[in-house]
Amino acid sequence: MKRQLLWGIALLAAACSTPPAEPTLKEAFADEFLVGTALNAAQIMGQDREAQVLIATHFNSIVAENCMKSEEIQPEEGKFDFSLSDPFVAFGEENDMFIIGHTLVWHSQLAPWFPFDKEGNKVSREVMIERLKSHITTLVSRYRGRIQGWDVVNEAILEDGTLRPTPFLEIIGEDYLELAFQFAHEADPDAELYYNDYSMASEGKRNRVVQLIRDLKAKGIRIDAVGMQNHMGMDYPAIEEFEKSLTAFAAEGVKVMITEWDITVLPTVRMGAEVSDRVAYAKQMNPYPDGMPDEVSQAWDERLRSFVDLYEKHADKISRVTAWGFSDGDSWRNDWPMPGRTDYPLLFDREKKLKPVVQEIINEKINNK
Ligand code: XIL
Repeated sequence: MKRQLLWGIALLAAACSTPPAEPTLKEAFADEFLVGTALNAAQIMGQDREAQVLIATHFNSIVAENCMKSEEIQPEEGKFDFSLSDPFVAFGEENDMFIIGHTLVWHSQLAPWFPFDKEGNKVSREVMIERLKSHITTLVSRYRGRIQGWDVVNEAILEDGTLRPTPFLEIIGEDYLELAFQFAHEADPDAELYYNDYSMASEGKRNRVVQLIRDLKAKGIRIDAVGMQNHMGMDYPAIEEFEKSLTAFAAEGVKVMITEWDITVLPTVRMGAEVSDRVAYAKQMNPYPDGMPDEVSQAWDERLRSFVDLYEKHADKISRVTAWGFSDGDSWRNDWPMPGRTDYPLLFDREKKLKPVVQEIINEKINNK
């Protein structure tokens, strides 16, 4: 009896000494929008277990950084590789997350076989449409009811407002856009469908995206949201121009998603996010290999805050904000467009710790609830 009493006291003491759980990102923004991140292979497979746990704690939406792009998921015609995408989706389901498929139609990381026949000649329009349909239908139907939203077409429009010359445009023609949305819709009528792009603050792109939404809607084709990638630098884009695009898209009756958020602190080599842009390493373009000076870090914090303020101001239009990666060490910006730099673009630092400014924002929001 005495022994039981002692155990009881010990258990009670242990319970009382457990610190209250720290508020999380997803709790802080729960009334406004989903908070997401992009997962790499190590995070999906659990080799980076620490990141996995923190991602499940802080985020309520995920997107695959690479493993669902055509060169990875259909490396040979008709041979699909779901070895990463299946566990990616399972991870999202286990953690009750809003899961995004990225991306069905894209000129980058396009499976090399896609536009060519066995002799190396471009395929006909009919064959290209068939391949487009088969790729989209296979992916979307495999995850029907499990992936809630798809980046159907990625980066189809250039900054001047013209359509990007991709194999899809060249071989099929402009209607590849509506075909892609149509095929995705047929494969999962309940899935949300998105158009996703970078440099969305530019006027030419803004107007052409608006046109695309109107065209699709006029034809009765489903489009739920526009994804604004939001890969930014310290001095681009101008927040006012970004806001103009955000409100212009929302005015067309679609949701807006901030889909690929990061702020590079490094000197600008290239704006936008054209993956094929490659520039040779130059030491003077990598000024903070051992950490950011305080004033740079403060400037980054301010830029983060000004964008968070913008998202909150338009929370009625924005359904999700997704960071393009979990921690600074994971970010593609360390290597794009110049390989081998040390960047600090994300919400968690290289030690996988929430950055102090992010912690402050979370606390402010929780205290104001
Ligand atoms: C990037 C990944 O982060 C890198 O790991 C990969 O090497 C190249 O692609 N726009 C997109 C994303 O839509 O898929 C890109 O992701 C970044 C730009």
